[in-house]
Amino acid sequence: MHSFEELVKKFSSHFNVRHFPAEPATLFDPCEYFLGLGGKRIRPVMCLMGNELFNEISPDAYDLASAIELFHNFTLIHDDIMDKAPLRRGMQTVHTKYDESTALLSGDVMLIQAYEYVNKIRTNYIHRILHLFNKTARQVCEGQQLDMDFEKKGRVKLDEYITMIGLKTSVLMAASLQMGAILGGAGEGNANHLYQFGLNLGIAFQVQDDYLDAFGDPQKFGKQVGGDIVANKKTFLMIHALEVAADEQKKELENLAHLKDEGKVDKVLSIYKSCGVDEWARSLKEKYITEALQHLEDAAVLSSRKKPLQELASFLVQRDY
Ligand code: IPE
Ligand code: IPE
Ligand code: MG
Ligand code: MG
Ligand code: MG
Repeated sequence: MHSFEELVKKFSSHFNVRHFPAEPATLFDPCEYFLGLGGKRIRPVMCLMGNELFNEISPDAYDLASAIELFHNFTLIHDDIMDKAPLRRGMQTVHTKYDESTALLSGDVMLIQAYEYVNKIRTNYIHRILHLFNKTARQVCEGQQLDMDFEKKGRVKLDEYITMIGLKTSVLMAASLQMGAILGGAGEGNANHLYQFGLNLGIAFQVQDDYLDAFGDPQKFGKQVGGDIVANKKTFLMIHALEVAADEQKKELENLAHLKDEGKVDKVLSIYKSCGVDEWARSLKEKYITEALQHLEDAAVLSSRKKPLQELASFLVQRDY
């Protein structure tokens, strides 16, 4: 079994090559630029981990992992346009460095390249995998649209938020793990437990992402801190604050949502702090991690083989980038 760090190295030695031709450079340079910024490589590593739970890592698993990472990067390029985000991975986003049309098309061609990697897979399970890949991709679009719709809504309930982040973030993690497991020959029961592990872990991961978006160290986080507040995102922080804050603070939050106030981010952050969001974040992550780990425990696999996934779970909710 390999640790997260070892699998990142193994995956990178396959993936850190050019994926696109040189010409037209105006289309492909932005793709290579963005991929060159790296990232944590969580999802491809989850695919490899799912595979290694049942078997030695297969060449198919590396191709699928590459497809998944390209798909993820495509979603980020388009997400940064939608969220008007200037920074990612400590560098300029594609639409900022180039322009929006370029970012749209570079994202599109990256998605197409992702499918080219799916097409390399030699397994008999190809139809099952392609179906899951497509279903997941559609769900990510659904989640992203809900995320945008929520920007314009005054109030969003916690369960609506959980549904939204389940779609935009968790399903890809769950499917990455499950597709790796399917390639490794996992049975139906185990494949389902792993999917549920990924779904719950993904929710805890997105809670941490939202927390870092408000309170992260800009140097480490690599994205514009406060970006969610500027965009009026309905994160769990905002939902919690609108629930527990004093009436006056609630009114202020609602007013700030309509303003492009200079001090908006600081004002919202100070309300968040007075609402005890640290403790709330901790308990929310705990709830979903516990649920995730229960599914991992219920998978009928030798428990010593589960260690990398358990370590991944703690890393994802404690990370500061
Ligand atoms: C960012 O995912 C998008 C979310 C779902 C929050 P990551 O934090 O895994 O991004 P990279 O690939 O490591 O940059
Ligand atoms: C993005 O969620 C999820 C997808 C890209 C599908 P966020 O908008 O919270 O991700 P970041 O914070 O920009 O990475
Ligand atoms: Mg974003
Ligand atoms: Mg977004
Ligand atoms: Mg975010």
